[in-house]
Amino acid sequence: MTPVRGKFITLEGVDGAGKSTHLDWIAERLRTRGRDLLVTREPGGTPLGESLRKLLLSEPMHIETETLLMFAARREHLSRVIRPALDQGCWVLSDRFTDATYAYQGGGRGLPFDRIAVLERWVHGDLQPDLTLYFDLSVDAARKRLSTSQSHPDRFEQEGADFFERVRSAYRARAAAEPERIAVIDADRSLDDVKKELEVIISSIC
Ligand SMILES: Nc1ncnc2c1ncn2[C@@H]1O[C@H](COP(=O)(O)OP(=O)(O)OP(=O)(O)O)[C@@H](O)[C@H]1O
Ligand SMILES: [Mg+2]
Repeated sequence: MTPVRGKFITLEGVDGAGKSTHLDWIAERLRTRGRDLLVTREPGGTPLGESLRKLLLSEPMHIETETLLMFAARREHLSRVIRPALDQGCWVLSDRFTDATYAYQGGGRGLPFDRIAVLERWVHGDLQPDLTLYFDLSVDAARKRLSTSQSHPDRFEQEGADFFERVRSAYRARAAAEPERIAVIDADRSLDDVKKELEVIISSIC
């Protein structure tokens, strides 16, 4: 018997919004509810993807190179990890996916969105996340959180407030355009309050 396809859930938001902080907790809630779950991240998720991640986070490069490498890593991630897991009935939880490319390379760096859309169609036109949890936080608050938690900011985290304002605007525009898929989490609250909202959303999907 063919297993029921798993659900694909992604976490999004500016650097410091709280994705990684809540990842393990969300995973635990899904597993408690009986889901087989694979937890992964982008860029990364495969040996090649993790090598590309190191380059993407450290090496200066042309914006189109950056975008193409993001999708190269994603292509590998989809064929080796995400699709096989979903096909076997496993759920997949990924810390970032293609919304981040629209937000960072599109919004932040100014690559036209239609270029990203071409690559998106090519690489995963038939597969979109079933649910995206978008952690929305002001740029000021996110930067304050990061400044207390990180000693070596990566190539993106070194960008200025204007860059992150554009990233946040792009995320918010995507959330407004796709409200059925993208749940906006107000991340400017206590960890407990954020978890309460996540619990409601998680119980609505499993
Ligand atoms: N609701 C919250 N209240 C207070 N501090 C928080 C909250 N959520 C996260 N933090 C803290 O903010 C910092 C950044 O959070 P986290 O690493 O989860 O962000 P992120 O979205 O994963 O960022 P990145 O995109 O850089 O990986 C951490 O020190 C974390 O403990
Ligand atoms: Mg993180």
